[in-house]
Amino acid sequence: LSDGSLIPLRIAVPKGRLMGRVLGAFAAVGILPDSDPETSRQLVLKSTCGLYEFLIVKNSDVPAFVESGTADLGIVGSDVLEECGSQIARPMTFSFGQTRICLAGRQEQRVLLENQRATPVVVASKYPRMAARELSRLGMDSEILPLSGSVELASVIGLADAIVDLVETGRTLVQNGLVVFKDLCQTQVHLCVAKGMRYQNSELLKNWRQEWLRQGLIVSGKERVS
Ligand code: PRP
Repeated sequence: LSDGSLIPLRIAVPKGRLMGRVLGAFAAVGILPDSDPETSRQLVLKSTCGLYEFLIVKNSDVPAFVESGTADLGIVGSDVLEECGSQIARPMTFSFGQTRICLAGRQEQRVLLENQRATPVVVASKYPRMAARELSRLGMDSEILPLSGSVELASVIGLADAIVDLVETGRTLVQNGLVVFKDLCQTQVHLCVAKGMRYQNSELLKNWRQEWLRQGLIVSGKERVS
């Protein structure tokens, strides 16, 4: 590393759906964890070269780690960044992990949503801010029910009239008998950097960018590190 520091560069990696693909991108630039994060319960995984540490964190917590500077870098979806109002620099956008944020529910509930109702439509979401904003844009009178996971269940069992949730393959909706009523927005996965990141001006990000572009792992033309 250019500044000769022995402190490893810390990278916050989101658990769950993105973890494999994120670690794959780092493997593509020669950075590998020294144990298998799918089987290990360790939350800090050193890289085999000793120059990096992967912090395994919950998706929605990535901004907190990067904003505080406890992680130098983080990988996180625009859905999470938008929901928490994060202004963190996001110099690269990966070509994987795009999703749609949709209004969805049981087919028979679609009618309820299209007609005038005396009471607000109850919509469950783990993105309460985004849901409220998007539904108000649609002119829908809604009451948001914040949940932190398994959001589809709220619609399946009638806890809510509909949900606003992320749809990637659509399998969760199909397997739970739900349908998309409306696409609200798209999400992308970004590499974020901490303000004053130690390696911000180094060649490191440039090298990763070049290699990831070559391998089609990021899309071009995104804002640069400031
Ligand atoms: C997300 C989302 C849906 C599902 C959609 O949940 O909230 O439940 O993935 O993916 P699909 O369209 O590919 O089926 P996640 O897996 O992140 O888990 P969570 O319910 O614990 O938030």
